[in-house]
Parts: sequence; structure tokens; C-alpha cells
Amino acid sequence: MRTTHQKPQPHRAENGKNLHQVEPVMIDPGAPIQRFGTVRDLPVSLPVEARKQSVDLLNEIVADTITLRDLYKKCHWQVLGHTFYQLHLLFDKHFNEQSHLVDSLAERVQMLGGISIAMGADAAELTRIPRPPKDRESVPAQIARLLRAHEIVIRGVREAIRATEKNNDSGTNDLLMSEVLRTNEMQVWFLSEHLIEEPVVPHEEQVEEHSFA
Ligand SMILES: [Fe+2]
Repeated sequence: MRTTHQKPQPHRAENGKNLHQVEPVMIDPGAPIQRFGTVRDLPVSLPVEARKQSVDLLNEIVADTITLRDLYKKCHWQVLGHTFYQLHLLFDKHFNEQSHLVDSLAERVQMLGGISIAMGADAAELTRIPRPPKDRESVPAQIARLLRAHEIVIRGVREAIRATEKNNDSGTNDLLMSEVLRTNEMQVWFLSEHLIEEPVVPHEEQVEEHSFA
């Protein structure tokens, strides 16, 4: 392995001519090429102030969405009970959809000239979703926690929708409305329908009602 301090030596053919350099050149991490929080110029006909505001709002949503996505995986692994199979699959489906949203949101930040939040530690610093315990929680507690997290995401998304509408940032506005908001609302619906009190076995009165004796 070479570093920038060592000049790569080209391989030589039998006739003495230089061949292409074949050794990988590993550059030492040095100064960044763009600082986080800055917005570079891109010819998208949108003022830098509007793009900066969108980037900041989007990055908060990226952090929240990474957190919500990971919360779904925690629930997928730790769920139990008579609805285990159904919820195990549902939580993973939502995880994949949230993963897709993270990608769309982060790429939108880059399209606006900003730098997206990417690493878990940075998302943890910025997210507004409370950190869940490492402990295992009951199914109703898991679903309630997920619903609260969704509400935080949706609140942030609605705020960003208003700001992008005002700033004429139609691309971000469309992404937030048609992809992010709708996916989150759909997932809230699917989760909420589980939070009803329905016994696995019938009550005594119901058993008597349907008794053939
Ligand atoms: Fe799995």
C-alpha cells in the first residue's frame, strides 16, 4: 500500500517502456473538500438561501428517518407473542421503505449542493426521536414507540413542506409530500390498526353464547 508521501513507481515492460501504475494509491484522510453545513453552487435556479434552508430541514428529517428505520429493525428482531410472524414481517417491510426514504432524502440534500447526514453517530446527535432502551419491550410498547417516532417525523416533514412551498423549492416539496409524508402516513395507519384490545381467546360470555350444549 502506498501513501501520498511515496511516489508510485510505474512498472516497466521488457523493452524498458513504462507501463500503467497498478499499485493502489491510498490517500491519507486530510482536509475535507466541503465543510458540513455549507452549500455549494449548482445551476438549479434556486437562491442559495432557499437551498440552505431546505438542506438544514432535510438533514433533520434524514436524522429522524435513520433513527426510525433502525427502530423498525430493533422491533423486527425483538417482537414476540401470537402476532410474531405478522409483525416480524411488517416491521421489516417498513424498515425497507424507510431505508428507501433515507436514500431519497440524502440524495436531495446533495442535489441542493449541501452535505447529507450519513453516519449513525451524526444521526443520533441530530435526531428529535428519543433514544429507545436496549431492553426488550412488549408489542404495544413497541408500536406506541414507533407511532410517536412517526409523529415526530411527520411534524418535521410538514414544517419543511411549508418552508419549501414558500421558497419555491418544488423538487424538495414534491419529494416530501408524495414520498415521505405519504409513506409515513401509510405506516402509521398499518401500525395503529394493531392497537385495539382483542383477546386471542373468546370471553366466557362469548363461549356460552356459542355453546352447543
Ligand atoms: Fe430479518
